[in-house]
Amino acid sequence: ELSPIDKAKFVAAKRATDFVEDGMRVGLGTGSTAAWMVKCLGERVRKEGLKITGVPTSTRTADLARSLGIKVVSLEEAKWLDLTIDGADEIDGDLNLIKGGGGAHLQEKVVATASDRMVVIADAAKEVETLGAFPLPIEVIRFGWRTTQALVEEMLISMDVLGRDVTLRMQGDAPFISDEGNHILDLHLNRIGNPRELALVLNQVPGVVENGLFIDICDTVVIGHGDGRIETRD
Ligand code: A5P
Repeated sequence: ELSPIDKAKFVAAKRATDFVEDGMRVGLGTGSTAAWMVKCLGERVRKEGLKITGVPTSTRTADLARSLGIKVVSLEEAKWLDLTIDGADEIDGDLNLIKGGGGAHLQEKVVATASDRMVVIADAAKEVETLGAFPLPIEVIRFGWRTTQALVEEMLISMDVLGRDVTLRMQGDAPFISDEGNHILDLHLNRIGNPRELALVLNQVPGVVENGLFIDICDTVVIGHGDGRIETRD
């Protein structure tokens, strides 16, 4: 028996796999909700003989997809995708997102942007009025990361963004290392008044590879509830 939160993630994930058709090239997201989606797709591959090509957004997701018999290729091989299904950490009323809680937002953004359609799956707790309560991740190269952090802090002050606490993501006692070999800074902002502007400005700071704001990338959101109800927004 699933807990209400897992049930919510599962029903959203399962519904989103209805968008997947035979022959599609599908971007596979990262995180606990996306893992349900990969499992549901694996089941359709086994039971229905569904033929798809998956492009994973992390080594974690690649391992899971392969273990379930889903054909996995790189984005270079796939070139363009019909659909990407991924989770999110926060979703606002304009379908803008914060992603990267799992540390994979760089590949997730590249893959989602290379797709005709991005469908986001989440439990209802991820819906927010204003983005920013969830710390905004930015992936930075390891070289000079303290300088990059200082530049980001200065930039936040000049933009008059509240909060401004910037922390290096850790994994145990060591800094977290992403799949691409970078570090992640988490920006504790509380409230992001202008996500579009912040997304543009953050990527201008030398050393920043990519921020976790997804602006105008998500096309459809499938929200699951603990009692099994599902809502779709686009
Ligand atoms: C991974 O980097 C993130 O963007 C995930 O999509 C996000 O953290 C959602 O994860 P859960 O589905 O586990 O909440």
